[in-house]
Amino acid sequence: MSSTTQQCQIGLIGLGVMGKNLGLNLADNGYSVAAFDLDAEKVQGILSQDEVERGDQPARITGCTSFEDMLSKLEKPYLIILSIPAGKPVDIVCGKLMECGLSQDDIVVDTGNSLWTDTVEREAQYNGKFIFFSCAVSGGEVGARFGPSLMPSGDQAGWARLEPVLEAISAKVDPNTGLPLVNNEPGNPVKEGEPCAAYIGPTGAGHYVKMVHNGIEYADMQLICEAYDSLRSALGLTPKEIAAIFREWNKGPLNSYLIEISAEVLDQDDPVTGEPLVDKILDVAGQKGTGLWTAIGSLEVGSPAMAVTASVYARALSGLKDNRVKASGILKGPEVTQVADSEKEAYIQRVHDALYCSKICAYAQGFELMKTAGKQQGWDLDFAAIAKIWRAGCIIRAVFLQSITDAFNKDKELPNLLMDDFFAGQIEKFQSSWRESIVDGVRLGVAMPCFTSSLAYYDSYRSETTAANLLQGQRDFFGAHTFERVDQPRGQFYHLNWSSDREIVRIK
Ligand code: 6PG
Repeated sequence: MSSTTQQCQIGLIGLGVMGKNLGLNLADNGYSVAAFDLDAEKVQGILSQDEVERGDQPARITGCTSFEDMLSKLEKPYLIILSIPAGKPVDIVCGKLMECGLSQDDIVVDTGNSLWTDTVEREAQYNGKFIFFSCAVSGGEVGARFGPSLMPSGDQAGWARLEPVLEAISAKVDPNTGLPLVNNEPGNPVKEGEPCAAYIGPTGAGHYVKMVHNGIEYADMQLICEAYDSLRSALGLTPKEIAAIFREWNKGPLNSYLIEISAEVLDQDDPVTGEPLVDKILDVAGQKGTGLWTAIGSLEVGSPAMAVTASVYARALSGLKDNRVKASGILKGPEVTQVADSEKEAYIQRVHDALYCSKICAYAQGFELMKTAGKQQGWDLDFAAIAKIWRAGCIIRAVFLQSITDAFNKDKELPNLLMDDFFAGQIEKFQSSWRESIVDGVRLGVAMPCFTSSLAYYDSYRSETTAANLLQGQRDFFGAHTFERVDQPRGQFYHLNWSSDREIVRIK
């Protein structure tokens, strides 16, 4: 159907990397798209790409010159997708669209990495004017083009209209194997398989889940970097040798997109000098903020997502480059920093096992955070469905997510992934190796904030009694902050008169 003679089905605003590729994905799936960007060159860019990809087929994407022009080319009620930076730009564009005339049946879908609380506020703000819906997108450029993981949430009427569109453009998974179905061929989208798009819940829930996805992503990336650092510094392996090890690991339980691309990065030579590219990349990590939001969110709800917070701080530490250069000439590490060749194979296996156990903890923390936040917000999150749509398309996609799906299918109320038989068994099988690998790293002076915090999380989580009893005593000693007793019902608080008769009194 040529979109020049008929109204387009979907409006698309924002034609950056994600928007352009979402537009081409929509077109591949048979939707006529009216595309607009304030930068006319970006409009031309998607039209030119559409021309190249569609060959002699009719145009599937229509360029627009303004918000008004785009609305004039859309069938009603409007379905408009935003792919624009989070924050103020979303409100500015919604304001412009309202000026052009939106009706209450029109849907505007925010696909950016918006802060979930902004999304909640926006739905309320625009309620009655139009349906403000959100659909968080994961998978980067290739994911947007050929199949992202989609986390929609908001008004049920909006979901009813969006469901076929989002399912069509999402990544797909083979229902028999749980593995991604991928072809990455323009014009020939994968149609069969289970879509990686599922309604997450009321407004804000989708962006919260995406935020936690990104927090897990930060932790997973940091854990892989710590494994790389350990292999590089303790064994003196080259980036290419470590790439080969990662490719081997990618055949087992660590199979994942992040392991796969890490091997790609480590294998890549710098086109300028011919040396390993990784050694030419400045070790100062950027961050757009979603991992930080997850860390703050976990602290706010009191959910111990230690791997996420450790990974955010690791990025902050990397930012102290000038200080670290100076400190490296002053602060000494251990004398011994490498292991003997005879030890190498065993050392590598221990790092693998430590990475796998730490990853289990990081994902357990992420799902526990969603559980805690979901309870507080009254969202009935379906963790099996969330794990299912993360099996393909998104940045943390991994064979491992099928095991998480299975765990929550077995027990919807599972308190923590660590308590699922499969994962408890995996930790049991590899934990001694995990511990030895951390001892290796500590002894050799390898920085492992995520590995060590994951083990600390595990050892705390499995402890019936921790040292928080002494901590309560400390608080009561200096601040009379009171404590509960193990031999009395919860909710009864006591204080000991530390500075007088040392008698204990019940406070409430
Ligand atoms: C995804 C990515 C995506 C974003 C990165 C930015 O799911 O496709 O997570 O949303 O590009 O998270 O990451 P930084 O915070 O590291 O810049």
